[in-house]
Amino acid sequence: MTDESRPVVAIIMGSKSDWETMRHASEMLSSFGVPHECRVLSAHRTPEQTMQYAGAAQDRGIEVIIAGAGGAAHLPGVIAAHTLLPVLGVPIESPALRGLDSLLSIVQMPAGVPVGTLGIGKSGAVNAALLAVAILAARRPELRQKLREFREEQASRVLEQTVP
Ligand code: RP5
Repeated sequence: MTDESRPVVAIIMGSKSDWETMRHASEMLSSFGVPHECRVLSAHRTPEQTMQYAGAAQDRGIEVIIAGAGGAAHLPGVIAAHTLLPVLGVPIESPALRGLDSLLSIVQMPAGVPVGTLGIGKSGAVNAALLAVAILAARRPELRQKLREFREEQASRVLEQTVP
């Protein structure tokens, strides 16, 4: 990263209750040293502010937006409608339908405005961060090297595993 203080990834969530899931995306980005910001913005509770945030993100230096939402989870789609940046959607595991509602709401974008949809819950949040790193790494050799090392360490841990 050139300017350590300027966020290049935005993690947006529909409610503070999503933080327990979305913090995993933040922690993974931090482990790669990727400057990012985290905010609560709701497509239905704060529609104007959500639209303004999405519309201004690119000019503020944001390169990837990760958006987590649960239930009728339209936040990632609404954000994607107001920016040309890549938007990665994380379905929150909702209490009513265990996140299947969130997943289907986010993944079934009609053709034309895509949201890159990850899995439900923690693994989706972690993978959203890793995908954001991969997107940023395309033009940042030092980040590409960190991603390579992450994969190698992960592979080593698997190969060290034994079963009874
Ligand atoms: C969505 O509604 C949020 O993304 C959250 O997952 C869900 C429930 O929000 P709270 O009622 O917990 O604030 O907008």
